[in-house]
Amino acid sequence: MYVTRLDVQGVRNIHKSLLYPKARINIIYGENGSGKTSLLEAIYLLGRGRSFRTTNLKAVINRASDACTIFALLGNGGTDDISGVPIGVSRTSGGGFHFKVAGRQVYTSSQLAETLPIVLMNSDSLALVEGGPGHRRRFIDWGVFHVEHSFRETWRKYQRCHKQRNKLLRHDKISMAELDVWDREFISLSTQVAECRQQYFDKVLPEFHSIFKSLNGSLDLDLRLFRGWAEDSSLSKELKKSYQRDRVSKTTNSGAHRADLKLKYEGRPASEVLSRGQTKAVVLAMLIAQGRVLHRVRNKDCVYLLDDLAAELDRAHLSRGMELLLEQKAQIFITGTSKDALQALVPKSLARGIGLFHVKQGVVDQEEPDLI
Ligand SMILES: Nc1ncnc2c1ncn2[C@@H]1O[C@H](COP(=O)(O)OP(=O)(O)OP(=O)(O)O)[C@@H](O)[C@H]1O
Ligand SMILES: [Mg+2]
Repeated sequence: MYVTRLDVQGVRNIHKSLLYPKARINIIYGENGSGKTSLLEAIYLLGRGRSFRTTNLKAVINRASDACTIFALLGNGGTDDISGVPIGVSRTSGGGFHFKVAGRQVYTSSQLAETLPIVLMNSDSLALVEGGPGHRRRFIDWGVFHVEHSFRETWRKYQRCHKQRNKLLRHDKISMAELDVWDREFISLSTQVAECRQQYFDKVLPEFHSIFKSLNGSLDLDLRLFRGWAEDSSLSKELKKSYQRDRVSKTTNSGAHRADLKLKYEGRPASEVLSRGQTKAVVLAMLIAQGRVLHRVRNKDCVYLLDDLAAELDRAHLSRGMELLLEQKAQIFITGTSKDALQALVPKSLARGIGLFHVKQGVVDQEEPDLI
């Protein structure tokens, strides 16, 4: 499924725009501050129920409007496909936030995500390598959520149990019998979460290596999933060992909430040794691998939002990255300031079928592609 029609109202400087994106490549170009990222933000809101720029959704609403509304049709067919699934989100400045999928109100962003899986690459995506473990856990969990539906419920139970255990650790006097009950539950859920993640990771890893090799040649990277407690120990032992530390810190120091992806090059953490360009290639390879696995396991394609990718990657990586993305047959929205530079990334065979959008001060014009 891909976005065949996109209606954006009251998002940042976009008052009202109607677009008919194409199945594969959609180029969004315009000057700085014209509204390109805002357009991607609107699509992201549709698929994730939140912004990638702010947690304060009021900031997304156009200053002269009292609500933002994004509506899309998701279809499989050509330009005359009007039988697609409607999906919409609206947020009022008063705080009301509504999601609709196929004409029905839904109440969780995961229902949006299930309908419209989105993968975003922008300058913040480098945090996947350079940032804290939370970024990498979210990367893994996004994938697990999409390929293994039962994961959401397990993760929810895990979080509740983790919270209860931490609450108990804050008591002055702890009933060991009570702690033991929570620990059993905690160990069982941690193990389930870790297994789901490992299964997903085992699918992503070979894709990652093959994509990265194709993007970056010979760098021999070592990517591993750390489950949140020592490989050579059981969680039960780890909890006993860290009991005093847990008491002092009033938090649980081992468990699935501590999972991470460890990326190493020649035995050193990749964030310490890779160049910026190499880091970008790693991130792109991880994101493409994620889309490939989703396609393979669920026969679903995600929509890629690539914000100012040219600023993030050199020409060679950019072209190769684009080829790899196109192998997936996913829908791509790519922004930049230069129409020509973006069009140059499109293989000749696809040039006729691209969507071309010129954004000027919040107004989006759909143009015919230049055929060179
Ligand atoms: N709530 C809002 N209401 C109206 N305008 C806003 C709001 N929030 C941000 N803007 C403005 O929207 C404009 C578009 O911003 P956006 O980040 O989409 O631009 P862009 O085309 O991606 O630019 P760049 O090439 O610099 O990345 C900016 O001028 C910004 O100041
Ligand atoms: Mg931008």
